[in-house]
Amino acid sequence: MAGVVTIRRAERRDAAELAILVDLSSHGLASWLWYGAVLGGTAQTALEHGRNQMRDDDDRAGWKNAGLAQLDGEIAGVVIGHAVEPSFADEEAPHPVFEPILTLQQQAIGHWFIDSVGVYQHHRGCGIGRQLVDYELARAAGRPVSLITESDNDVALGLYKSCGFEEIARQPSVPIDDNKKNHDWVLLTRSAT
Ligand SMILES: CC(C)(COP(=O)(O)OP(=O)(O)OC[C@H]1O[C@@H](n2cnc3c(N)ncnc32)[C@H](O)[C@@H]1OP(=O)(O)O)[C@@H](O)C(=O)NCCC(=O)NCCS
Repeated sequence: MAGVVTIRRAERRDAAELAILVDLSSHGLASWLWYGAVLGGTAQTALEHGRNQMRDDDDRAGWKNAGLAQLDGEIAGVVIGHAVEPSFADEEAPHPVFEPILTLQQQAIGHWFIDSVGVYQHHRGCGIGRQLVDYELARAAGRPVSLITESDNDVALGLYKSCGFEEIARQPSVPIDDNKKNHDWVLLTRSAT
């Protein structure tokens, strides 16, 4: 790798890049959801809505809970983590596509939850993803840590299992359209340390 990777807390002004990275982490599912704001007339583009969400001080998956990996002065990746509060038990999914994810997340109440991990494609395979996960594990301060990924995401599953995560449960995905391949959502947990 060319330079040294550092990880810093995100700032509010990072919201636009956070929106790109959160969308990348979710393989485009985030911008698909954000497009609902365009259809509803409250944003001009999906990414504008994503940026607005990321700059929201009260959004648990927004800038305040984000860490950014930097390489040679540029942002290379993101990790976002937060506690799964008891109020998750009463949450409703924003769309049926998210119901299996919420069902799994409700099994992780009391855990620290890694909401997003993503590294720009040209920086992958150099250890940045592992550093981001380690960074978030340190933020969990000994609590159990959970996350959810796709059953066909072999790279992410390999990374998480090598960090001590184990599969706890899975749910079949609800595809966003007929062209999308079906997979399971997998809940992985790392015990308290
Ligand atoms: C998953 C992701 C964050 C990994 O980031 P990364 O910087 O490439 O990861 P690292 O270089 O730290 O590699 C960590 C581990 O991942 C696995 N891995 C990385 N690249 C891999 C590849 N091409 N094939 C198989 N496994 C791979 C290995 O287990 C590796 O462990 P090692 O260091 O012992 O070799 C990155 O691929 C990514 O952003 N993917 C798209 C978004 C995504 O799927 N996010 C996770 C959603 S839950």
